[in-house]
Amino acid sequence: MKKVNVVIIGIGNIGNLHINNILSGEIQGVELAGFCDINPEKLVTAKERYGENYKFYGNAEEVFKDSEVDAVIISTPHYDHPVLAIAALKAGKHALVEKPAGVYTKKVREMIEESQKHPELTLSLMYNQRMNPIYQKAKELVEAGEIGELRRTNWIITNWYRSQSYYNSGGWRATWAGEGGGVLLNQDPHQLDLWQWICGMPERVYSFAYYGKRREVEVETEVTAYVEYANGATGVFVTTTTETPGTNRFEIVGSQGKIVIEDEQLKFWRTVVDEAEWNETYTGGFGEPEVWEIKIPVTFDGESGHRKVTQNFVNNILNGEKLVSPAEDGIFGLSISNAIHLSSWLERWVDLPIDEDLFLAELNKRIATSQVKDTKEQILDTEGSY
Ligand SMILES: NC(=O)c1ccc[n+]([C@@H]2O[C@H](COP(=O)([O-])OP(=O)(O)OC[C@H]3O[C@@H](n4cnc5c(N)ncnc54)[C@H](O)[C@@H]3O)[C@@H](O)[C@H]2O)c1
Repeated sequence: MKKVNVVIIGIGNIGNLHINNILSGEIQGVELAGFCDINPEKLVTAKERYGENYKFYGNAEEVFKDSEVDAVIISTPHYDHPVLAIAALKAGKHALVEKPAGVYTKKVREMIEESQKHPELTLSLMYNQRMNPIYQKAKELVEAGEIGELRRTNWIITNWYRSQSYYNSGGWRATWAGEGGGVLLNQDPHQLDLWQWICGMPERVYSFAYYGKRREVEVETEVTAYVEYANGATGVFVTTTTETPGTNRFEIVGSQGKIVIEDEQLKFWRTVVDEAEWNETYTGGFGEPEVWEIKIPVTFDGESGHRKVTQNFVNNILNGEKLVSPAEDGIFGLSISNAIHLSSWLERWVDLPIDEDLFLAELNKRIATSQVKDTKEQILDTEGSY
């Protein structure tokens, strides 16, 4: 069977992870064809690391013109994700795009619209946590109605610790012009995506975000967001990059059950009857419905989510396997992220779907005063992150 010839665009931290994943031979049906980076030093390093037997491109346009290239993995900073994906599609290339789908929903919507014009091409996103069996199980439970009607969600995700040296490792990082956001846009896209993937989209948001708190950066390093869902359920999302030891605790409460994910474990409790029904009929004053703690099997196979998403992307190209993280899904988590920013900037409620033009106008105000950082770029070891 023909293999998919892929070029990695952006040979930084995560670009190197993609290269190693493909070179490990554990992804079937794919061939590494070459590397692309606008920083010539990155290409020199890639030659030293991986040898000369590849193609080296100084910009993405050269890749898109190359008829021997079938697909690209876009692992550049976020602003370029939808820009390069659109160009790739227009040039007839399949694309796997790193998270987040982009910085602002208006551009991501353009990317999705371009993708819809090319049904013969695959456009997938690297939401590798969708491959984590624990979140897959939570989604399965919620969708099967095992917790009853959704009532409250709560994600404390504060174990994204990042030191000042991390922020200093790239000029684009943590600036409005280079990155377009902080913890919400760099670290949290996984959780924001899973939150909506499992619990659905909220309908409005009120948030408090702190910019440059405890780090010398322009963007947010600490956020608390409160959301409301159409059915009256509420949610809270708490995040920071400056807390250690951090917490990663996701609680989903329904009218008939509760899921808690923490420390790589999923716990599940269910009341024998739905709380609303019990409340209507119970006359004893103090008292609560009977609760069962139920053991839910979650099987980990030790395989990396990145590799699985890449395999899924390749399989979709070769044999139409259903995409786990299709491009259309990229707008949801980003909408929540944009809504959280907008609410904190305007100090008011923000309804979803957001006013995309207003968001972009507010973002552009911040880009206009953004300072370019003079810093030496480094390739960091991504071991231990995801
Ligand atoms: N899925 C995950 O778990 C995960 C983990 C880390 C990073 N990421 C994402 O990957 C992206 C890159 O992050 P990173 O930490 O590797 O950044 P990085 O700065 O280490 O690497 C980015 C590379 O892209 C190159 N580049 C910039 N613009 C380019 C362009 N237009 N064409 C070609 N090359 C270009 C830069 O020179 C640099 O070498 C970010 O969007 C980040 O959110 C995802």
